[in-house]
Amino acid sequence: MAGRFITLEGGEGTGKSTQIKRLAAALETRGIKVLATREPGGSPGAEQIRKLMVEGEPGRWDAVTETLLAYAARADHVSRTIGPALLAGTWVISDRFNDSTFAHQGVGRGLDRETIRRIDSAVLDDFQPDLTLILDLDVTVGLKRANARPGAENRFEKFGADFHEKLRQAFLDIARRSPDRCRVIDASGSEDQVAEAIFAAVSRRFDL
Ligand code: TMP
Repeated sequence: MAGRFITLEGGEGTGKSTQIKRLAAALETRGIKVLATREPGGSPGAEQIRKLMVEGEPGRWDAVTETLLAYAARADHVSRTIGPALLAGTWVISDRFNDSTFAHQGVGRGLDRETIRRIDSAVLDDFQPDLTLILDLDVTVGLKRANARPGAENRFEKFGADFHEKLRQAFLDIARRSPDRCRVIDASGSEDQVAEAIFAAVSRRFDL
């Protein structure tokens, strides 16, 4: 049987990468083979494109160019990593996917939804996650957590709190538009509480 495709979405510092490790471990203890991956990135070529997107000054790219970079990376990620894994029966958990483009380049940077939808449909056809978990957290708390992390990958953190509040609302709006696919997870609790809420949502969705 084909694997399942789960995505985690949400703002900076909401704990996505920690929670992906926890979810992968919980599924593996149930005998499920899991591949954890991320966007932008997840294949050698897409990781190179990631560097172009996440490093440098905020004004480095306009919104259309940034969208095309995101989808160039995504096309490679789907064809070389996600697709083959799902076909082999592996469950794939991705730290961000196409909802991030609708939120960041669409609502955040003002590219109209229809343009992104057309690019999405040209690149992905009807391919969609089976389940999207949207980690929701107060923006000030999230940015404080994200800024405490070392590293050069902070181009998007430089966009400021208003931008990040827009993103939070954009993800909540995506959840309202796609209630069958999306679940909003309160990310303000402890790591254990969030992990429990995520596993409960996954179990319900896939009858584990
Ligand atoms: P990360 O910090 O969660 O790994 O994500 C890297 C940054 O890339 C994050 O600020 C969100 C941004 N991004 C976009 O702007 N558009 C996209 O399509 C994706 C996948 C990520």
